Amino acid sequence: MFLFYILNLTTLATLNKIYMKDLSNYRKSYEKSELLESNIPEDPINLFHRWFYEVEEFGSIEEVNAMTVSTIGLDGFPRARVVLLKKFNEEGFIFYTNYDSEKGKAIEVNPHICLSFFWHSMERQVIIKGIAEKTAPSVSDGYFDTRPDGSKLGAIVSPQSQVILSRTFLEEKLKELEKQFNQKEIPRPINWGGFLVRPQEVEFWQGRPNRLHDRIRYQLQADYFWKIDRLAP
Ligand SMILES: Cc1cc2nc3c(=O)[nH]c(=O)nc-3n(C[C@H](O)[C@H](O)[C@H](O)COP(=O)(O)O)c2cc1C
Repeated sequence: MFLFYILNLTTLATLNKIYMKDLSNYRKSYEKSELLESNIPEDPINLFHRWFYEVEEFGSIEEVNAMTVSTIGLDGFPRARVVLLKKFNEEGFIFYTNYDSEKGKAIEVNPHICLSFFWHSMERQVIIKGIAEKTAPSVSDGYFDTRPDGSKLGAIVSPQSQVILSRTFLEEKLKELEKQFNQKEIPRPINWGGFLVRPQEVEFWQGRPNRLHDRIRYQLQADYFWKIDRLAP
């Protein structure tokens, strides 16, 4: 018994050696840019627009529009997942998803959500707190129409976030639908569409040397005026 105990401890120690990795010396100095009050617009969408295009120009990020969407779930836990930003303008930020998915259900109960971007090539992070609402059906239809047929059918086939028996379930359903809609117009499923996130607070983070990063926060006041503050890094 004692020998068995010692053997188990040794196995555990070996496993720890295999699976443990010390990351304490992963360190990087951020030196690519700066964010100063003297050079920012009054409106965060304007600054987001500027940053987005600078990051795109800089290159080296394949999907500049990939963002993390965080919601508070029905179980009380936050949950974050990557989704693609498909449009932004003075009203806010639009992404498309399945309204019956976990995030869709969470947003229905609590529309206060958070979007965040990490653009490592330019050492930038943007965190947006906002209120989500479904886009008008005409907006969802407009975007759905631009999608390739495969993506349209994929949206119909997938009961997003639900447990399914196998991958074959999806593939067979897709084959059936390909036959059904052969050369025909594919309608947008009513449980699939956009969310417009109206920003209430937007923080821009620019990495700087010595961990003295720049953080500029915009907060919407009385629905029209943006209060601007610098936050300690
Ligand atoms: C790069 C990338 C882009 C994605 N884009 C979307 C998207 O635009 N819409 C979407 O519903 N899911 C998208 N997903 C999948 C989501 O991360 C997630 O798995 C899915 O929406 C289900 O999330 P939920 O169960 O929390 O609702 C994307 C994932 C990755 C990694």
